[in-house]
Amino acid sequence: MLNDNVVAVTGGLGLIGKAFCKEIIKNDGKVIIGDLFINQGISFQNELGAENALFLELNSSDSDSIDNFLENSKNHFGKIDSAVHCAYPRSKQWGTEFEKLKAEGLRDDLFNQLGGAIIFSQRLISFYRAQGYGNLIHISSIQGLAAPKFEHYEGTKMVSPIEYSAIKSGIISITKYLAKYCKGENIRVNSISPGGILDNQPEVFLEKYNSSCISKGMMEPQDLNGTLIYLLSSMSKFVNGQNIIVDDGWTL
Ligand SMILES: NC(=O)c1ccc[n+]([C@@H]2O[C@H](COP(=O)([O-])OP(=O)(O)OC[C@H]3O[C@@H](n4cnc5c(N)ncnc54)[C@H](O)[C@@H]3O)[C@@H](O)[C@H]2O)c1
Repeated sequence: MLNDNVVAVTGGLGLIGKAFCKEIIKNDGKVIIGDLFINQGISFQNELGAENALFLELNSSDSDSIDNFLENSKNHFGKIDSAVHCAYPRSKQWGTEFEKLKAEGLRDDLFNQLGGAIIFSQRLISFYRAQGYGNLIHISSIQGLAAPKFEHYEGTKMVSPIEYSAIKSGIISITKYLAKYCKGENIRVNSISPGGILDNQPEVFLEKYNSSCISKGMMEPQDLNGTLIYLLSSMSKFVNGQNIIVDDGWTL
């Protein structure tokens, strides 16, 4: 399906990023895994096979680091057809309730997650312009589309951060902005808004969350694979500036 397309995955060592890297290779693509942790990165690259995967250290909130990442990717594979921005930098404050938020942590999270997505897009689009084409997928969330279902969090220590909602709405906005900004340049920008992904959440939360969905409820990262491959492939050639929700009906 991907015909040797080269796909850069930021946050490629994360829950969603790892699953995406595996799926891209399964569909005859090649991946560049961009993340902060060198040892884990090399070992994941070796697991995927060095002919199909390359790990490169990346801080996706830093322009110079992004430029190095893009240049080294090109030196290795000769091109970058697509990028999926899955990096998810979080400050120590992440998960603090609204009443206790401090400006410094907010600045870090808003900049690293939303500012980082803008900076990454800027550097990547500059690379794509020189190349003559390219495809970018951002990752938003159901929290960018609707207010949290606060009742699901009762009886747990979990918090759905207000800044997460703001950042994820922002991701949908920059996706539309960039798709239109790149008019006539052979560059596509879309986003995926996943529902919650299973990751050892407490049972009391899962029960309530699942009851707000239609069939499965909380998903596994692999449940996003079909949408990922569709957006990466030429099947979605004229899909641009769109946000595809994959949430088993949570937002209905
Ligand atoms: N997990 C979910 O339930 C869920 C649901 C909806 C949306 N999302 C979104 O999906 C994306 C990925 O989430 P995840 O659950 O895979 O997160 P995760 O924490 O499992 O993985 C994030 C990865 O990003 C890397 N990273 C952090 N800061 C970085 C930086 N500055 N530069 C490069 N890499 C960096 C981390 O090392 C990690 O490997 C996020 O945007 C998240 O908001 C997740």
